Amino acid sequence: MKVTILGATGLLGKALLREWSGDEIVGLSSRDADIRDADKVREVINEARPDWIVLAAAYTDVDGCETHQDLAFSVNRDGALNVAKAASEAGARLLFLSSDYVFDGKKTSPYETADARNPQSVYGYSKAEAELRLLEVLPQCCIARTSWLFGVGGKCFPDTILKLAATRPVLDVVNDQVGCPTYSVDLARAITQLCRKYARGIVHVTNTGHCSWFGFAREIVRGAGLATEVRPVTSQQMARPAPRPAYSVLSRASLNQWGITMPQWQDALQRYLRERIS
Ligand SMILES: NC(=O)c1ccc[n+]([C@@H]2O[C@H](COP(=O)([O-])OP(=O)(O)OC[C@H]3O[C@@H](n4cnc5c(N)ncnc54)[C@H](OP(=O)(O)O)[C@@H]3O)[C@@H](O)[C@H]2O)c1
Repeated sequence: MKVTILGATGLLGKALLREWSGDEIVGLSSRDADIRDADKVREVINEARPDWIVLAAAYTDVDGCETHQDLAFSVNRDGALNVAKAASEAGARLLFLSSDYVFDGKKTSPYETADARNPQSVYGYSKAEAELRLLEVLPQCCIARTSWLFGVGGKCFPDTILKLAATRPVLDVVNDQVGCPTYSVDLARAITQLCRKYARGIVHVTNTGHCSWFGFAREIVRGAGLATEVRPVTSQQMARPAPRPAYSVLSRASLNQWGITMPQWQDALQRYLRERIS
């Protein structure tokens, strides 16, 4: 298979380049092709003639999206649409990365793929609108929603916690947001399998299990053998520009239907901690 990865310099993109073997992979950054530039996108896709395009490129600064709304929609929605149109013209399949933030977080049981979108943040809106437009332009595309992504080679929650824990005796972390941590390596492997199985439709791809950010931080500090105390606080005490869903656990039933299972997040975290120090 020939595969073009847009967003290859990001956290997931780097893992995809490392993990994907046996196929012909081309990885592109925003310098190679800014997805807001429809002509450029068409040009690189026509040149590469891929069987699959993995669209991992996005403006992912959730709080930044609140103040830079035009940028959020031009990259995350309009840019994605440019890629979908180019894929359609070139006869390529498209796997688009979306987010748990398309949901409002008001459920108390895992979100299924057919649950209603009701984003609470600009980032979430930009992803939710992208999903809807993509399904119009390319009904057979695959939308892989993931959450709480972490891995080596980029900014992520465990990295931030480890840096803070190295210098502070106490860390306050929110305990009223619950979700599924997802290791970039495991997500990359699942994406590879989804492409090989010619998956289509919406699929939820996260590590197994769930926790709060506090629970995640406590496990990170413990796993790294640090003595830092981690204290639970509320979202209100740690106000951020973008609202986050209180509960955004994604059901993996859709992924299991493709015959794919994911490791537990605690196991993934241990592998991340080993990878980070190696
Ligand atoms: N991180 C999470 O917790 C999380 C959760 C749910 C879903 N997701 C989704 O998963 C995907 C991968 O996330 P990530 O954390 O790997 O992202 P990331 O580390 O922030 O990387 C973003 C990537 O997008 C590229 N990019 C940004 N603007 C672009 C533009 N205008 N044109 C072309 N490329 C552009 C960047 O290229 P340059 O390096 O050239 O700027 C970079 O390769 C994204 O779609 C994200 O929305 C992430």
